[in-house]
Amino acid sequence: MNKAVAFAPATVANIGVGFDILGLALDNPGDTISAEFSDTPGVTVAGIEGDGGKLPRDPNKNTACVAGLSVLRAAGSTQGVALTIQKGLPAASGLGSSAASAVGAAVAVNALLGEPLTRDQLLAPSLDGEAIASGYHADNVAPCLFGGITLSYGIEAHQIERLPIPRGLSLALVTPHVEVATAMARAVLPKEIPLKSMVKQTGSVARLIRAIYTDDLESMAAAMEADVVVEPARAHLMPGLFEARRAAKAAGALALVISGAGPTLCAVCASHETALQVVSALEMVYAELGLGCTARAASVSEQGSSVQVSEGA
Ligand code: HSE
Repeated sequence: MNKAVAFAPATVANIGVGFDILGLALDNPGDTISAEFSDTPGVTVAGIEGDGGKLPRDPNKNTACVAGLSVLRAAGSTQGVALTIQKGLPAASGLGSSAASAVGAAVAVNALLGEPLTRDQLLAPSLDGEAIASGYHADNVAPCLFGGITLSYGIEAHQIERLPIPRGLSLALVTPHVEVATAMARAVLPKEIPLKSMVKQTGSVARLIRAIYTDDLESMAAAMEADVVVEPARAHLMPGLFEARRAAKAAGALALVISGAGPTLCAVCASHETALQVVSALEMVYAELGLGCTARAASVSEQGSSVQVSEGA
């Protein structure tokens, strides 16, 4: 094989109250990463498209290269690999862009080498890549790699649970055209949480997981929005959050939460038709605010990252 191409989907981390532990994979959009053998040792960047020149070309600072190198090491390979990264996801948008690059690279490099590592064994290299952008937490990486809705109560593969996908679950996503750096969105979080808040938050996480298992979209939506810790601290960084929530609900959404560290907002709907109506309502909110945005309907992807093309020598 001389070329492998992987697709890595966008992800919604936290799903409301599940800060750093819950996440889901979307069926669109995503990053496409091509891996080819190279005479240059290690993992290098052959090209990056769609990032507006913003992502680092230095392999030590690029999440895809760090993840790819970690795969080479885990597989005991001394081959050089060059990556071509097509960014379908904007950086600093709350759609798991850095995780998608890391996971896509890990999957592509592994495919190029002939799949020496299992999917579970790709978790650690993917996290190594994601860590240089936002530290070691698996709420974007796990759904991106494994698909579906994931609960990560640690960063090892046996600490990741795939949760069922409630029937009818459809999402409407809107990304206002402003960047919110994950580091900044984490810096504004409280260092200490009052016991009362901890009790409310853990209760809501428990309710959310129960609702997911019992196919109860209304309870799921209510639990997602009952965030008394993270959203209140970050709301001021998210333009149009409350207007968008009002408009989404008026158009039929059950809930609206910040996707990951934002500024993307994610509305939960009970059907694709409703999600399309909510997309239109969200576009109107940002038009009225005079802010550009990208909005789309999506569903949860069962598959996660996939190898799209492998070309033989
Ligand atoms: N759980 C993370 C956060 C997602 O909300 O900061 C972004 O990496």
